[in-house]
Amino acid sequence: MKNDKNRIINGSRQSAGLSAKPFVKWVGGKSQLIPSISKILPQEIFEMPDLVYIEPFVGGGAMLFWMLKSIKNIRKAVINDINSDLTTAYFAVKNNVNELIARLKNIEQEYQSLTSEESRKIFYLTMRERYNTKSLEDIENTALFIFLNHTCFNGLHRVNSKGLFNVPFGKYTNPTICDEDTLLADSELLQKVEILTGDFEQTLDYATENSFFYFDPPYKPLSQTSSFNSYAREAFNDAEQVRLKHFCDKLNDKGYLWLLSNSDVKSNDPNNNFFDDLYSCYLDCA
Ligand SMILES: C[S@@+](CC[C@H](N)C(=O)[O-])C[C@H]1O[C@@H](n2cnc3c(N)ncnc32)[C@H](O)[C@@H]1O
Repeated sequence: MKNDKNRIINGSRQSAGLSAKPFVKWVGGKSQLIPSISKILPQEIFEMPDLVYIEPFVGGGAMLFWMLKSIKNIRKAVINDINSDLTTAYFAVKNNVNELIARLKNIEQEYQSLTSEESRKIFYLTMRERYNTKSLEDIENTALFIFLNHTCFNGLHRVNSKGLFNVPFGKYTNPTICDEDTLLADSELLQKVEILTGDFEQTLDYATENSFFYFDPPYKPLSQTSSFNSYAREAFNDAEQVRLKHFCDKLNDKGYLWLLSNSDVKSNDPNNNFFDDLYSCYLDCA
């Protein structure tokens, strides 16, 4: 559980991974909200020796990279996501960053040599088709995953009912395809990160006494039609939000600290008490 005391990070200087940040754009990414989230982190985590930071819905990892850069006493982090192409990408950045950079530079060169929007779109669609064969080695899969993420419409990751990536071309004039500095810095910080693929509940097995969980699950949509939350074939519906709350209860019973963010459904409909009711026993929730 979080407390609501303000916490100012006084920035003890660290050389490692200073330019680390998400290497993919991710819907629901928390980069903009880090100043607010960092203020409500539980005070205790700054003093815990050998802190284990656990992020069961890591997505683009905005919070992960910020935590690893800012909190000195993290001994280890454990990240998880149900999207296996995303977690494969984390593995590639951690273990094979130089080859990944070389592959991305090749793609970047080829893409930039195409001058018309139409030819770039054809290139994009060819790469998308190749990626959707789902038969690629991890490093090529990750290079295409990053390329598509940086050149597709709005950096969305959306798959159809067959699990095929179907986001259209993004029409950017000069997209970054190989952000070498970020990839190198991320790789350095990922050395102390264990990467898991699957359902969020499996992270419980990795908790130790000094663990802190940050949950950023797919948002509950503000309306029937508005928000995007289909990152994977499996929907994250209200029943899943309830399952997550029961998981948080389990953490609480075991004495682990946790913090969770979700959409503010009440801002759209003052009568919507879904989260107020669900988390009513955690009275100091923001
Ligand atoms: C809101 S996003 C996380 C965004 C992330 N905090 C960031 O800064 O980019 C939610 C993530 O949960 C993942 N997800 C969906 N269902 C899941 C499940 N049952 N277990 C674990 N991860 C899941 C999605 O693939 C998605 O990456």
